[in-house]
Amino acid sequence: MSEPAVLAVEEVSRSFGKLQAVQPINLAVHAGQVTGIIGPNGSGKTTLFNCLSGVLRPSSGRVLLRGENMTGKRPHLFARKGLGRTFQIATPFLSMSVLENLLVAEAVADTDASRQKAACILERLRLTRLSDQSAGNLSGGQMKLLELGRILMCDPVLVLLDEIGAGVHPNLKNVIAESVRHYRDQGVAFLLIEHDMEFIQDVCDDIIVMAYGEVIARGRFDEVTRHPRVIDSYLGAELET
Ligand SMILES: Nc1ncnc2c1ncn2[C@@H]1O[C@H](COP(=O)(O)OP(=O)(O)OP(=O)(O)O)[C@@H](O)[C@H]1O
Ligand SMILES: [Mg+2]
Repeated sequence: MSEPAVLAVEEVSRSFGKLQAVQPINLAVHAGQVTGIIGPNGSGKTTLFNCLSGVLRPSSGRVLLRGENMTGKRPHLFARKGLGRTFQIATPFLSMSVLENLLVAEAVADTDASRQKAACILERLRLTRLSDQSAGNLSGGQMKLLELGRILMCDPVLVLLDEIGAGVHPNLKNVIAESVRHYRDQGVAFLLIEHDMEFIQDVCDDIIVMAYGEVIARGRFDEVTRHPRVIDSYLGAELET
C-alpha cells in the first residue's frame, strides 16, 4: 500500500456566525512537497491553517495527519503527531536566550544531544552568533527565523508557515528559503502562506489560490499566475503598480 498523504484535508470549512471564512476545501500534502497558499487579505488562509493545526474546530469536514483523523483535537496533539506551525506574528520567549528558546521546544530539554541539534539548526538559520542574546533583542525577521528553529527542534513531518517572510529582509528570506529546501529534501512537507510571489516561485512545487474563502485555482506557479480569476482577484493590483 502506498504511504498516506502527510496531510489530508477533506471538505474542511469554517464559518464565524454568518461569515463563511473557508468554503469546503480538499487538499493533500505529501512528504517532501512544498505547497504555497496565496490570496488577498481576508481570503481565509490563516483560518484554514487554524483548522489544520487544532487551533479552530472546522465547521465541517475532516483533517487527517499521517492517516489519523485529527478533526477536533487540541493543538498539542497535532504537534505530537509531527505538525509544526509558525504564526503570522512571531512570539518567542522574549526573556530567554536564543539558544534557550530552542531547548524549550524539545521534550527532553538541555541534553548534550539536544544542544548539538540546536547548534546545527542555529547554524543553518545563521543565528549562531546570537545564541546567548536575549530573544527580546532580536529583529522582527530574526524572531521569525527563531520561531522556525523552535519548530525544527521537534523533527516535524509537516510544517505550516504563516507569512514567515513578511517584513523580513531579503537576505534572511533567502535563509528561510534555503532551510525550507533543505528540510524538504529530507522529506518534510511544507504548507506556506505568503504574499511575496518571488518567494513562492522560489520554493513551492504547487500553489493554491484562495479568494473569499474559496480555492479559485491550483497548480504550478506558471499555471496559476496566468489564471484569469487569479489575475482579477489577486495579482491584478500588483501588475498595475
Ligand atoms: N476569530 C474570528 N472571528 C470572526 N471572524 C474571523 C475570525 N478569524 C477570522 N475571521 C474573518 O475570517 C475572514 C478570513 O480571515 P483570515 O485571517 O483567515 O484571512 P487571511 O487570508 O489569513 O488574511 P491576511 O492575508 O490578511 O492574513 C476575514 O473576514 C476575517 O475577518
Ligand atoms: Mg492571515
